[in-house]
Amino acid sequence: MSMKKIGIIGGCGHVGIPLGLALAERDFDVTLLDINAATVDSINHCILPFKEAGAVAILQDHIGKNLIAATDAGLVKEQNAVVFVTGTPVDEHHNPKINDVLKVIRTYLELMNKEQLVILRSTIFPGTTELITQLLYDRFGSAKLAFCPERIVQGRGIEEIFNLPQIIAPSSEEAYREAWGIFSKISPKIIRLAAKEAELVKLITNTWRYLEFAAANAFYMMVEHEGLNFYTVYNALKADYPRAEHFPPAGLAAGPCLFKDTMQLSAFYQNNFFLGQSAMLVNEGLPNFLVDQLEKKMGSLGHKKIAVLGMTFKANNDDTRESLSFKIKKLLEFKMALVLAHDPYLNDSLPLSEVLRQAEGVILGTPHDEYKNVALSVPFVDCWGFWNRA
Ligand SMILES: NC(=O)c1ccc[n+]([C@@H]2O[C@H](COP(=O)([O-])OP(=O)(O)OC[C@H]3O[C@@H](n4cnc5c(N)ncnc54)[C@H](O)[C@@H]3O)[C@@H](O)[C@H]2O)c1
Repeated sequence: MSMKKIGIIGGCGHVGIPLGLALAERDFDVTLLDINAATVDSINHCILPFKEAGAVAILQDHIGKNLIAATDAGLVKEQNAVVFVTGTPVDEHHNPKINDVLKVIRTYLELMNKEQLVILRSTIFPGTTELITQLLYDRFGSAKLAFCPERIVQGRGIEEIFNLPQIIAPSSEEAYREAWGIFSKISPKIIRLAAKEAELVKLITNTWRYLEFAAANAFYMMVEHEGLNFYTVYNALKADYPRAEHFPPAGLAAGPCLFKDTMQLSAFYQNNFFLGQSAMLVNEGLPNFLVDQLEKKMGSLGHKKIAVLGMTFKANNDDTRESLSFKIKKLLEFKMALVLAHDPYLNDSLPLSEVLRQAEGVILGTPHDEYKNVALSVPFVDCWGFWNRA
């Protein structure tokens, strides 16, 4: 069957939009289905809800032609393939909220038929693909499904979709052929795996990243605790030393994926994944360490004006989801400091010049380019080494 019409459930989110644009660019007819009516409306008016490199030009080329956004769930019936990319959060015990995932799938399955290919693209707990395959069998007596995880980095999704290998874990040969027919048009390489292998690839990829940041952060705290500058050590160990090439700088490891996916992997291994839990303690403990560092430099922070520069979770991006800058803000407020939160991507703060004029101390939350040439005459804490990395 020709796989011309593709519906994306959760299509107006951070994963749905880059995928939808990439598919539209390759001549598929794409419907972004989403319950967020405001975002649906803005996309149809050619306005993206967040920053994504290269996205606006593609949106302008395709919207209203072979790309639309819609809230009408009934449109799912018209699609050859239906991709699910809604969120997959963890609960208060850091265990996956699996029922939320199944609920969304069940809602749309009601409207679908057995000829349609189901593609799962969210990051899911190992075993979820198998469960959903069972849901399909229960409803249709057969299952045409593929788990095809998304691995793009936030903000540069379009470029990465066209360059990263695509993993496909199909429920049958037919599902593989059809999923291949779609992804071979946008990906340079297809890797076929079994469902649980693919689920683990995705979770381990993100967890590996989280562990790398935790290692850097643990060394940062160790060296700075000793009263030395971490970046003197870091710059020296990295200089012309090939095996340290990928050693990241210290920094706030936040955002909607890394912490969550490490906790999913920990839940998968029945909470025996001590390394993942330790990484979480290190990364989540860094904000406390930074506030303590500033306090050591300034004495009591009570009633002092402290600027937090950068509130988004990564540099040069407007996404604040799970940003640890907000944790720093809360910790400072608990010390009775007067916090001046600033971010060039959010328009609810004072101008940077005014923040810098008033601030008696500074913590760098996010190393946005806009802060590169800031000249500070007050005590500051910069775990990123943004102002003194080689
Ligand atoms: N953000 C990333 O860069 C990234 C990268 C790889 C994988 N992932 C994974 O992809 C999944 C989605 O993440 P995201 O960042 O795109 O989330 P998101 O919150 O940006 O997008 C989810 C979208 O789904 C919509 N939605 C929720 N319920 C719906 C329903 N019942 N029907 C239709 N639409 C619905 C929301 O309105 C939202 O637009 C998660 O599993 C995440 O871990 C994210």
